[in-house]
Amino acid sequence: MSSIQARDKEVIWHPYTPMKLWPEAIAIVKGEGPYLIDEQGNRFIDAISSWWVNLHGHSNPYIAQKVSEQLNTLEHSIFAGFTHEPAVELAERLLAILPGQQKKIFYSDNGSTAVEVALKMSLQYWNNKGIEKKKFIALDGAYHGDTFGAMSVSGRSLFTKAFDDKLFEVAFIPFPDNDGTESLQQLEALLQQGDVAAFIVEPLIQGTAGMRNYSPEVLEQYFALCKKYDALIIADEVMTGFGRTGKLFACDNITTAPDMVCLSKGLTGGTMPFGITACGQHIFDAFYNDDSTKTLFHGHSYTANPIACAASLASLDLLLKDECTEARKQIELSHQTFAEKIKSHNNITDIRIQGTIIAIELNTGGETSYTNEQRDHLYRFFIERKILLRPLGNIIYLLPPYCISAEDLQYIYNSIEELLATL
Ligand SMILES: Cc1ncc(COP(=O)(O)O)c(C=O)c1O
Repeated sequence: MSSIQARDKEVIWHPYTPMKLWPEAIAIVKGEGPYLIDEQGNRFIDAISSWWVNLHGHSNPYIAQKVSEQLNTLEHSIFAGFTHEPAVELAERLLAILPGQQKKIFYSDNGSTAVEVALKMSLQYWNNKGIEKKKFIALDGAYHGDTFGAMSVSGRSLFTKAFDDKLFEVAFIPFPDNDGTESLQQLEALLQQGDVAAFIVEPLIQGTAGMRNYSPEVLEQYFALCKKYDALIIADEVMTGFGRTGKLFACDNITTAPDMVCLSKGLTGGTMPFGITACGQHIFDAFYNDDSTKTLFHGHSYTANPIACAASLASLDLLLKDECTEARKQIELSHQTFAEKIKSHNNITDIRIQGTIIAIELNTGGETSYTNEQRDHLYRFFIERKILLRPLGNIIYLLPPYCISAEDLQYIYNSIEELLATL
């Protein structure tokens, strides 16, 4: 055990980690492009973009330069009663490209807080208008974060079990299998009751549930139903945003506009924690009042941190370059070629591709779930080959930084084939 690992063991509690069963964390000393480099000089290919955040590779020199310039200019300022150029410029640039008619940006710290803000905006929107609508609807298997509101609108699972009786009630509709008829019917039946504040959804693909995707047609119909019955729509693009699913945002695949969009993860290119809740003018207007009790009483100490804004602006510069669009297309094409090659393997039950994401569901025995007993074996198999892949139970998936090379992708595919040969 290295000295960093030994010191870590004394003082650190890691996220989503059974600390007794996983006592040693790999000590990373440097990031470089798609690689995380440990103390011994091992170069791990970060095939999941470090929990889906890293878009342009680690320690990207352009982002580093912009962040450094910002650090030397203004590192932070309170954001109530004060403002600054990076926050304004980022809001202007995002509003120009976000799906729907988003008109205002509310900053926070991460994906969960972006969701909390959207939930609070929804409830208070109706409250400020004097209309009794308090119910939330979400999809079975949804994951929207780990704070209490975000947990409440997430599917009840191992993650929420200890807290279930403290979570507020949410109506869950089935995941849209096949053409989504049952899911749509249940949504409509709930909306008809007239008390729905908002419908929250991961558009096109549920990440944590196992990279489960569904069609833009179903998404369009969900949104159309919400409009018909006057319920707000929250598009949680925390994972899907910034080019992950093909288009810039998953909601770009449909025409009906969400009322709010939550962003985080790729927002800063994986450089800093940051979150955004974008909303339409009508949402903002419901809070714009001479009566100060209608204010959205929400904020975080680091709201609109200028360094996070600078990182986001730099990441956006890179994302909008033609080279990046081309790189994303190439990743998708490679995934398709690989899927074609392995799809008839006996121990593959499903392969799903959505933009730069490929998910391979393995028949490893046991049920398809996060706790599938093969999960740890799969994780270690790839770590031994210097690939960071965190299987969702028996589902392995790649969600690489857009700068990954064709050779590295091929190396990962080869390792997956090697694994398949052992099943
Ligand atoms: C769709 C979605 N929403 C919200 C979150 C929560 O984001 P964070 O981990 O930054 O709180 C996640 C995290 O995985 C997510 O995938």
